[in-house]
Amino acid sequence: MYILSSLVKETIPNYLAGLPIPDSFGGWFRLGVKDWLALIPPVVVVGGISYYSYDTIKKARAAGNGQVNQCVRKDINKVVDFIDIEDITEKVSLCRCWRSKNWPYCDGAHGAHNKATGDNTGPVVVKHKENK
Ligand code: FES
Repeated sequence: MYILSSLVKETIPNYLAGLPIPDSFGGWFRLGVKDWLALIPPVVVVGGISYYSYDTIKKARAAGNGQVNQCVRKDINKVVDFIDIEDITEKVSLCRCWRSKNWPYCDGAHGAHNKATGDNTGPVVVKHKENK
């Protein structure tokens, strides 16, 4: 714990205080080659953190802002389906990934979703008792 404390309270502040950051705009034009070379590591670290943050936010937005339901009946407040068990003659696969174009039934769209996101979703298969 001492190493982390020392790093945060002493090493990093001392390093930053030692960077050749000019006090005025014109000071940037008076920096020497050695000064510019000293600025490369912190610029690379800040740039890397910025890019990683940007990329993470971009991926989160592409994933749909955290909403599970991307396309099923988005015009209503809550998606609820009823299936009469007597209507199931043999078996039925019900979608759990919310990507099926044949909702509430699975159409295999979970495969593309799993491949794109690394997820492992799949349908729930309801079988009629006599067909087990
Ligand atoms: S399409 Fe959604 S689980 Fe198969």
